[in-house]
Amino acid sequence: MLKDKFNRIHDYLRISLTDKCNLRCSYCNPNDLAKGFFANSSRMTANEIDQIVSVFVKNGVKKIRLTGGEPLIRKDAKEIILRLSKYPVELAITTNGVFVNEFIETFKEAGLKSVNVSLDSLLKEKYFSITQRDKFDRVTDNIKLLVANDFHVKVNVVVMKDINDSEIPEFIQWTKDVPVHIRFIEFMPFTGNKWSSEKVFSHKQILNIISSKYHYIKLLNEKNDTSKKYFVPNHKGSFAIISTMSEPFCNGCNRMRLTSDGKMYNCLFAKAGTDLLTSLRLGNNIEPLIKECVQGKSFMLGGNNETKNWGNQTTVTHERSMISIGG
Ligand code: GTP
Ligand code: 5AD
Ligand code: SF4
Repeated sequence: MLKDKFNRIHDYLRISLTDKCNLRCSYCNPNDLAKGFFANSSRMTANEIDQIVSVFVKNGVKKIRLTGGEPLIRKDAKEIILRLSKYPVELAITTNGVFVNEFIETFKEAGLKSVNVSLDSLLKEKYFSITQRDKFDRVTDNIKLLVANDFHVKVNVVVMKDINDSEIPEFIQWTKDVPVHIRFIEFMPFTGNKWSSEKVFSHKQILNIISSKYHYIKLLNEKNDTSKKYFVPNHKGSFAIISTMSEPFCNGCNRMRLTSDGKMYNCLFAKAGTDLLTSLRLGNNIEPLIKECVQGKSFMLGGNNETKNWGNQTTVTHERSMISIGG
């Protein structure tokens, strides 16, 4: 079992399959950041991912989420999904939804139950202005396809003031007849994404808007939840808020991350990673490195304990951008 200094059991691994993406979301992968990707030779192969995962599973990992960049742009994405499905873990994926139609059978074959899809606007033109790509119809069709095939679909909406905050009620309305689970996410600072505290739309502000139109009920949270969950009575879907900026949820954190170049990060905001891939390629046992990395974990936000310190900065520099660490 992987336990940190604060006795938190770490049984959830998020694997970024690639740091590349076919969209250019302003908050994550803006055009001016789309350079300096990892070289292919430093990227984990399907076989290396499998080997690294086997060590994590041996040490108690029970859930694996594949992320990106966009995980489904990897040519061997199908192979990776199917290989990982042989482990006794809950396998899940976070995707921008563009290629889901090509993978629906693979998801079924792999026994995947839950798919998180990013969609920041219900308006085609606005979707284009946020992502710089004309993929709105494809993504919304793919969300319908997932729902029709009984997948649990969470829709990630990064809420940015004066960009999409006005659409919050429309997202709630969507949950009336469709069993989608909307997660409103507070905009977080990452290298190159022009974050500022004025653009953050907080948990409280989101609830204020919703309560002016809907009566909602709070659901109980589970220990490791990053989101606060709610539902509107008689709606088929639900909504939740991921409040990293205003109310961090690090207490019950059980997450570890692996970037596509094989570095392990003990937190989304960790300043440095542990190079598992080089060690694996040298034929070394990576288990002690994994344990050490978990032991070195800070209690909150990778040691950036004071969220208020972030307030005055226009960008916060991290060693990695969001797109390379996989959210
Ligand atoms: P599940 O709980 O497994 O459904 O995953 P998730 O909701 O955490 O995953 P997803 O990839 O859909 O990410 C949704 C949002 O949560 C993104 O904005 C992530 O950056 C954020 N997030 C995921 N993990 C963490 C974390 O450990 N800390 C913080 N602060 N945010 C996180
Ligand atoms: N702040 C909050 N969420 C973000 N994501 C990407 N960049 C940011 C950011 N700066 C979210 C996307 C995606 C998930 C993996 O991370 O919505 O769904
Ligand atoms: Fe790509 Fe997702 Fe980042 Fe958008 S949020 S650029 S879809 S990785």
